[in-house]
Amino acid sequence: MDSPIQKAVKILKTGGVVAFPTETVYGLGASISNSKAIQKIYQIKGRPFDNPLIVHIGSPALLYKIADVIPDAALKLIEKFWPGPLTIVLKKSALVSDAITAGLPSVAIRMPSHPLALKLLKTFGEPIAAPSANRSGRPSPTTYQEVVQELGNKVDMILDGGKSEFGLESTVIDLSTSAPRLLRPGFITYEEVRKFLPHLKLRKENGSGPLPSPGLRQAHYQPNCVVKLVSTAQWKDALNKFLKKNLRLGLISFSQTIPENRKIVFLKDFSNNKALFAAGLYSSLIEAEKCKVDLLLVESVEKKGIGRAIMDRLERASSNGNEY
Ligand code: TXA
Ligand code: MG
Repeated sequence: MDSPIQKAVKILKTGGVVAFPTETVYGLGASISNSKAIQKIYQIKGRPFDNPLIVHIGSPALLYKIADVIPDAALKLIEKFWPGPLTIVLKKSALVSDAITAGLPSVAIRMPSHPLALKLLKTFGEPIAAPSANRSGRPSPTTYQEVVQELGNKVDMILDGGKSEFGLESTVIDLSTSAPRLLRPGFITYEEVRKFLPHLKLRKENGSGPLPSPGLRQAHYQPNCVVKLVSTAQWKDALNKFLKKNLRLGLISFSQTIPENRKIVFLKDFSNNKALFAAGLYSSLIEAEKCKVDLLLVESVEKKGIGRAIMDRLERASSNGNEY
């Protein structure tokens, strides 16, 4: 009988889609050389066609097939951070179709470190295009069960690799031009990458203009409840105010002591630990929605280190937070 990996490889080879675990979040994968399967990914996710996919590889050698120019800066980052939660954007080769890059001349590439993802990639032997395994605009799944709930029978197979270690999508760095830019903050922090790339710029340092990465739209990662970001300084006042209203409240706390109250129907406390906050954030958003929370108050953290990635996701998850 086929092992789950062998079964997944057969599905990929015949144009199917397979959800698989990575150390960041679960991905929804298809072979980069099967345009129908790539289309299926967009359909299943309800993803706008102008938002390109990340190409996953199981060995750095495949980089030379899918990227056209590989600058020294890329080699430096790869040596330090691959396999792991870092995606680099490079000029694409002719092998990568416009459907994958949404017509951009560049392609996003990453080599994940999750053992099951690596095994799948190595056994398949070819690159796999994979966005996060959520429907467009929703929090990304970080467990097998969450993928089942999110995509269920729409996909051909879901590989179970337990809980994703980091819980937030990979750091994305654009090296396709002469000015390296951080497009999406992640577990590998801006501060850390800057040690290797001193000229790395943050997105906003480049001013306004068109989005450098289409996936950076404002509203994203939203559960089916209103999310409101509250600073540590305003937390007590905000909580008192909302406890007086007739609402099912959810709380995600970083540093607070929470009073008992029947109106609080969901509570998650990350006890001053940013790595735990990052790893548990999406699952908490999904759990709050299951508890039928009306309003979810989330304590903000400093935008430094992993805090930058946490706040990036929270600012977008809470872009409906002014309803209350
Ligand atoms: O951790 C991750 O990166 C996960 C796992 C499954 O590997 N994948 C993931 O994929 O987060 P997705 O599709 O949800 O996010 C891909 C991000 C989007 O923000 C997209 O706009 C950006 O990468 N991206 C992809 N190709 C790009 C390109 N050529 N130039 C700029 N940004 C690009
Ligand atoms: Mg995504």
